[in-house]
Amino acid sequence: MRRASLTQFLIERQRAGRINADLRLLIETIARACKAISTRVNKGSLGGGHGSAGSENVQGEIQKNLDVMSNEILLEANEWGGNLAALVSEEMEDVKPTPTHYPRGEYLLLFDPLDGSSNIDVNISVGTIFSVLRCPKGVEPDEKVFLQPGRNQVAAGFAVYGPTTQLVITVGDGAYGFTLDRETFTFVLTQERIKIPEDTAEFAINTSNMRRWEPPVKRYIDECLAGKDGPRGKDFNMRWVASMVADVYRVLSRGGIFMYPRDSKNKDGRLRLMYEANPMAFIVEQAGGAATDGRNRILDIQPHKLHQRIAVVLGSKNEVDRVTSYHANS
Ligand code: F6P
Ligand code: MN
Repeated sequence: MRRASLTQFLIERQRAGRINADLRLLIETIARACKAISTRVNKGSLGGGHGSAGSENVQGEIQKNLDVMSNEILLEANEWGGNLAALVSEEMEDVKPTPTHYPRGEYLLLFDPLDGSSNIDVNISVGTIFSVLRCPKGVEPDEKVFLQPGRNQVAAGFAVYGPTTQLVITVGDGAYGFTLDRETFTFVLTQERIKIPEDTAEFAINTSNMRRWEPPVKRYIDECLAGKDGPRGKDFNMRWVASMVADVYRVLSRGGIFMYPRDSKNKDGRLRLMYEANPMAFIVEQAGGAATDGRNRILDIQPHKLHQRIAVVLGSKNEVDRVTSYHANS
């Protein structure tokens, strides 16, 4: 049987009335940009992408050449398509409305152009994360219109530039995975209706922060580490890629729990709500998993600023529920 391409998949969604033509074209545009970024990442030092760009982003992080390139690829791809009212990027301080000489569309796009950028120069997977919201009609797209809870997202997705380039997408009817076929340069549907197992024996957390964690997180990890002889009665394995895209992709593929909790150094958490936590939470829930900040469902959190940080606990439902209950009882 011939597998569907991303284009066929999206046209089917449009025929079923789940998305309109503008949203279909917007997702196609983002996917095209991801292919271009994948090519750049793949070239490594040969494409001039390695090394520091000599600048800092709005979060005070050193920008790598590939961060800047990826941001430019996404900006250029989305500027003239007519599907967007405005966009927001991790790499830019302010909202960027669609230039007035291009038609304005009904959507708002948020993205992390290159997630996991500490891994760029060392040949470990990195990726792109995106989230799509609707812009209310007749409203000038300023920061305020972006401050919508994640449950309002109409689409979200991420690409992982790893041994293969994978794209995961949701438009609210399940999470689907696509593999980039480098011969035809098309994304091909390879994972239908991804389902995260409810139970797992694998956790992902940066344990170098252990001394700074809050008690419920410390309790959960201590219990996992105690293994068969501890209260959980089974051994756990640990993974930490330090690229959220790669860690979440693994969780979608075989289950697991991924955590970047708040701690005494990262008081609000480390990951960004609007273009990291929200799109990943949407995808994970669509795959039958759960996502909280330790206490509340991420998709219900009302954002108060564009580059807001948040604690993230996501993945296999029973484990996320356990961590959330430890917080509730603390
Ligand atoms: O975007 C932030 C990020 O790079 C994530 O992709 C990743 O999960 C995390 O930071 C890694 O953090 P640390 O450097 O503390 O391991
Ligand atoms: Mn990131």
